[in-house]
Amino acid sequence: GGGAPRRHVLSILDLSADEVLYLCRRAVAIKRSDADPQTLRGRTVGVYFRKTSTRTRTGFLVGAGRLGATTVAFGSTELQTNTGESLGDTARTLAGYLDVLVMRTNESVAEMQAFAAHPSMSVINALSSDEHPTQALTDLSSMLEHFGRLEGLSVLYLGEGNRTAASLALAMSRIPGTRLVVAAPEGYGLDPRVLAKALELAAASGAVVQQTHDADGLEAGFDVVYTSRWQEMGVSKPDPEWKTRFAPFRVTRALAERVSAPGAVFMHDLPAVRNEDVDDEVLDGERSLAWVQAQYKMWSAMSVMEWCGAGVADEG
Ligand code: CP
Repeated sequence: GGGAPRRHVLSILDLSADEVLYLCRRAVAIKRSDADPQTLRGRTVGVYFRKTSTRTRTGFLVGAGRLGATTVAFGSTELQTNTGESLGDTARTLAGYLDVLVMRTNESVAEMQAFAAHPSMSVINALSSDEHPTQALTDLSSMLEHFGRLEGLSVLYLGEGNRTAASLALAMSRIPGTRLVVAAPEGYGLDPRVLAKALELAAASGAVVQQTHDADGLEAGFDVVYTSRWQEMGVSKPDPEWKTRFAPFRVTRALAERVSAPGAVFMHDLPAVRNEDVDDEVLDGERSLAWVQAQYKMWSAMSVMEWCGAGVADEG
């Protein structure tokens, strides 16, 4: 449509802290409303995933339909990019049909910029080689609904400093009154550039971000104990002994109880490797928010697609 140029969410840093909070509150409101808002009626959403996905792809497609949009999904081998058509020509063509393009790739955010060069089409990063911004929106929306606030929350992220951890750190570092501790084996923490950026943003905002490699020395009192698969999307690690180094970070019931504040919840972006990164009794336990969080993939997708595709935030 006409009017203002479309918004994009390629990095979580494309959103201000206020915009992150708006999108989380909106996701909770959409979940709780009696009827789905029809804010994308007449719009078309494309979902182009070059990598496997259970939650994100389904959440965006079903969510777009619930908002009244028409949807089209492309698998990894279906577009002419596979026969050599340039990304620029592909983007230019798709921008003539689509209002919103949701992409998952193996490349960096920089590659997605080519798709975001057209004022008629919003681009949403559904996982690139360096970020998972919509996962951070999912995670913070789930926490916001459960606790009724983000301010004052203390989050422990255990495991690999992967893309989920990176986007969570870059989001939380700008939300005053929050604290994130990333506990990862030495050599498997956050990308040093991401950590440096998160520390810089936290110093300015009044949030706290920390990284440790000492699983045994973790203090108690966390409201959220979060982990993620140690090996995302089948990316292998050169060290044949790497699993031994991750073992102390496995979320057993004993570890969860040791570090939790009263009323704490367990979170996981999923997919999990059961009884490797988290024990069954934690993932399936009464303190697990992971399955609500999986549902929030859809509610937060609806929130972010609406914000990009319909500009609801301008009016509200
Ligand atoms: N958490 C997440 O991104 O799940 P999928 O890979 O299944 O989309």
